[in-house]
Amino acid sequence: MPADVIIGGQWGDEGKGKIVDLLASKYSAVVRFSGGNNAGHTVINDLGEFKLHLIPSGILHDNVTCIIGNGCVIDPKVLIYEIDKLRASGIKVSSKNLVISDKAHIILPRHIEKDSEQEKARGNLKIGTTGRGIGPAYMDKVARSGYRMGSIAEWPEWEEKLGSHITSTQKLLRDLLDHDENVLLEGAQGALLDIDHGSYPFVTSSNSTIGGALTGTGLVPSDIRDTIGIFKAYATRVGEGPFPSEIQKSNPVAKHLLEKGHEFGTTTGRERRCGWFDIESAKHSIMTNGFNKIAIMKLDVLDGIEEINVLNGARYDTFPGWNESTFGIKNSSDLPENAKNYLSYLKKELKVNIDIVSTGPERDQTISIS
Ligand code: IMP
Repeated sequence: MPADVIIGGQWGDEGKGKIVDLLASKYSAVVRFSGGNNAGHTVINDLGEFKLHLIPSGILHDNVTCIIGNGCVIDPKVLIYEIDKLRASGIKVSSKNLVISDKAHIILPRHIEKDSEQEKARGNLKIGTTGRGIGPAYMDKVARSGYRMGSIAEWPEWEEKLGSHITSTQKLLRDLLDHDENVLLEGAQGALLDIDHGSYPFVTSSNSTIGGALTGTGLVPSDIRDTIGIFKAYATRVGEGPFPSEIQKSNPVAKHLLEKGHEFGTTTGRERRCGWFDIESAKHSIMTNGFNKIAIMKLDVLDGIEEINVLNGARYDTFPGWNESTFGIKNSSDLPENAKNYLSYLKKELKVNIDIVSTGPERDQTISIS
């Protein structure tokens, strides 16, 4: 049976966590394949509000095995904290439903120190990293001088808490797929932050795109069925780097998106830069990942904006906005005409089916189009 992949189509924070949470019950396993606790998902469901950085949001579902794949970098302290917090909220976390690759690399305190030293040294050219030691941990991995989770026995405290979760996740995944189980691979960050295909050097240090889903798990191309791209109905970026459709902070529309969209980082609390949807960069993501489906998130955040712009190459296309609330709408036929027109335009320009439109943070505030 197949594996499906969810990947952020922009600069991260598109709302992947909600979609993984929405779909997770259809899968036996949900797998993170790249990055570390630079990521942050907020999931709001019947059980409460959860902020997850490393553990896939599938953990909130019974009968889903959550896997942290070999492509990830893990700060053991953060992982232990996350496990403890979930348990304190009544979520069961055991070595059966949380499995960690023995080949995932360990983020050590020195990586975190180096991250901040490097940022200081970059001066005006700083990347605006999350400061979690991600880059230096991957540097050690590539320099072949890193420590992997398989060697955690060298750290008694971490071994005691995490040791029973560590195994060969590649074999586990192979077994699941060979036994006709469905697997969901959960991307972190977004395609435009990919180390190879993003806006280098203002990127993260891993492959957040489809290639990383394979190398970061040990699966093969024929395992993959759907590659689902997650896009916001507008765009945001945290940290430095080019953002062609950025709206000036002094413009009231930027304030609207920031406040109505709660555009503050889950990991660092930083204000996100806000802008319009950018067709060219979305097409780049689609080309790089081969998305056959996409989800448009946070449509409701655009409610009440008089005029919506989209950057399309060198020009801006302009659409009349809508005053009606789209919050919580579940059927596309209930959307205001102007919202329908906006979605039709995106579909026509991007040439990919829009399968899901999200109209609020909760699971059921979703329009399923297929
Ligand atoms: P690093 O991954 O901490 O090295 O940060 C590199 C760049 O990626 C910075 O611009 C970060 O703000 C950005 N970044 C890393 N993780 C995320 C994420 O999960 N969402 C959004 N931006 C991220």
